[in-house]
Amino acid sequence: MQETSIKKYFGDDHKCLDELFINFRKYKHQDFSKAKEFFKDFKMRLQRHIVWEEQILFPVFEKKTGMTQSGPTQVMRIEHKQIGECLELLHKKVRTQDTNSDKEEEILLSVLSNHNLKEENILYPTIDSMITDEERAEVFNQMNKLPEESYKKCCCQ
Ligand SMILES: [Fe+2]
Ligand SMILES: [Fe+2]
Repeated sequence: MQETSIKKYFGDDHKCLDELFINFRKYKHQDFSKAKEFFKDFKMRLQRHIVWEEQILFPVFEKKTGMTQSGPTQVMRIEHKQIGECLELLHKKVRTQDTNSDKEEEILLSVLSNHNLKEENILYPTIDSMITDEERAEVFNQMNKLPEESYKKCCCQ
């Protein structure tokens, strides 16, 4: 039986992403290749997180509530697109080793942290309250089975 709640698991993943990003910024001016490794890890894990939500977690909520065309998960999906765009703008700079990326980092951080707070405070607890232990276990089971190709997209060399 899965003990971890959706809120705990996904909230912890947000924290892990935050730490990777902090490390990218910390090493950007000291050791670029080290910073780049943190960025690549951040990007891959953020993409995985979004696929987990869009393909596995949100459909559970949408099925239960019938809210497929509008509602909180649609708002979250729109925000994921914005996050993806901000991520690509920063990715372009990292690829060309352009360390003048403070603005892109600030924008990404602000969009991402607002988004994460909404999920942690509203969406995840709502989902936790509406699913059974078996359904939660199935969410984690599907997440574990997700093939790497579905999120491991990065042209960083
Ligand atoms: Fe999200
Ligand atoms: Fe999330």
